[in-house]
Amino acid sequence: MKKKRIVIGNWKMNPATLPEAKKIFSKIKQISSDVTGQLVICPPATYLHALVSSYKGKKIMFGSQDAYWQNNGSLTGYLSPTMAESVGAKYLIVGHSERRSVAGETPDIIAKKVLAGIEAQMTVILCTGEKVRDRNAEYLVTIKEDLRECLKKIDKRMMAHVMIAYEPVWAIGGREAMLPSDIHGMTIYIRKVLTELYDKQISDSISILYGGAVNIDNVEDIVKDGEIDGLLVGRDSLVPENIMYIVSVANGK
Ligand code: PGA
Repeated sequence: MKKKRIVIGNWKMNPATLPEAKKIFSKIKQISSDVTGQLVICPPATYLHALVSSYKGKKIMFGSQDAYWQNNGSLTGYLSPTMAESVGAKYLIVGHSERRSVAGETPDIIAKKVLAGIEAQMTVILCTGEKVRDRNAEYLVTIKEDLRECLKKIDKRMMAHVMIAYEPVWAIGGREAMLPSDIHGMTIYIRKVLTELYDKQISDSISILYGGAVNIDNVEDIVKDGEIDGLLVGRDSLVPENIMYIVSVANGK
């Protein structure tokens, strides 16, 4: 049986204008009719509503790149999870390394956002990953502690609404993805941590995605040997032909 893998396209702060976003999206829509598989596009929040309302199909879903953990208040400039959900975001990326480094998000803040996203009826994609791979494998401790902290408000029942995106920070935006065999090793490790934090059943059922320099040249190997349930794609998600190729490979082409 062909395994279905979800592909999340994180557009980050791109493209520059709504007309450009619509153009990219309409090409993606067009190609998607020939491709099997689930794609989740996470555009900048200001483009969400326009893109969602221009689409009636089922293959493409939408997500938000971030949201605050409160739903209202005197919070100038913030976006609430309920706002994102109300315009069609079914998924919420939380704890991306760029939010940690640029916006100073800590595991404690991320933990509140994971809970807020679930409470707003979204599936949360929790990102975790080490900045460096040191020889003593300290990065394993980093990941374990990060997961423990970021998931501290989430009980077993809520875990049905969480996916983990393992994204080694050193690979994000770079030229080389992590080696598929190393990705496989990390998924095994993350499942072990989840068994410790919850139980084996939850650990087995949770989707673990890989992100960091996934592209049309390496996707086949990552899918074949990485033992992942999906991919989180940055740059190539803005190139319609590339992201749809990645979706097709992720679903056994
Ligand atoms: P990239 O970004 O695919 O451009 O490396 C991945 C990410 O930031 O999630």
